[in-house]
Amino acid sequence: MNVFAHRGASGNFPENTLSSFREAARLPIYGVEFDVHMTADGELVVIHDESIDRTSNGHGYVKDMTLDELKLYDYGSWFAPEFAGETIPTLDEVLDIFAQTEHKLNIELKSDIFPYEGMVEKVLAIISDRQIESRVILSSFDHGAIQMAKQLAPQIETGALFMEVLVNPLDYLQNLPADALHLFFPTAVRPSLREVYEAGVPVRTFTVNDENYAQMLKHSGVESIFTDYPERMSVLFS
Ligand code: G3P
Ligand code: MG
Repeated sequence: MNVFAHRGASGNFPENTLSSFREAARLPIYGVEFDVHMTADGELVVIHDESIDRTSNGHGYVKDMTLDELKLYDYGSWFAPEFAGETIPTLDEVLDIFAQTEHKLNIELKSDIFPYEGMVEKVLAIISDRQIESRVILSSFDHGAIQMAKQLAPQIETGALFMEVLVNPLDYLQNLPADALHLFFPTAVRPSLREVYEAGVPVRTFTVNDENYAQMLKHSGVESIFTDYPERMSVLFS
């Protein structure tokens, strides 16, 4: 079973910051996952929430601020004082960290709350410029975004994100289409998922920080876990 660092090595470093990604990049793990939003001036930034309130000393929505405005705030102190001065990373800054590694890059498109018009095209352009198509998995709770990505760049792997218990998941995936299921981990052991495992469709689950649960998921046929503790989990599962 593969291990992805969820929002970087976010258990011990502030999530979605360069320090959390530098830590992930030095680990012998399969991949890294991070979340992308779009600024008021059309720049792509890596942060989980729609607003900067929880993970910075600022306030407001990413979509309402320019990159320069977003860069004024501190995205590390909320986690621990020694991370003071962390800025919001751009997608390019995160990809630079992994330019010399072989990690899979799961870019989660966070357009499920605000639509971020043009974001899919911008992300695809960056992937194309860097020629990293074979390393990227594009996922989203916004299934319209991954449907569009598949139409524009069929060679790039996609994953449909779900929080729900699914019925007839294979039909849904094939119709979208998407290449993989990215599931809230307790739903991955439901009997309705059996057809997905039997079809060999990759199932990846978030966010798995418990070794015993991870073992159960591995036994069920889960291909990968997203974890906040990639170093600990990689010792057991990579
Ligand atoms: O991509 C897996 C996982 O990150 C999805 O949930 O809310 O942590 O982005 P969230
Ligand atoms: Mg995510």
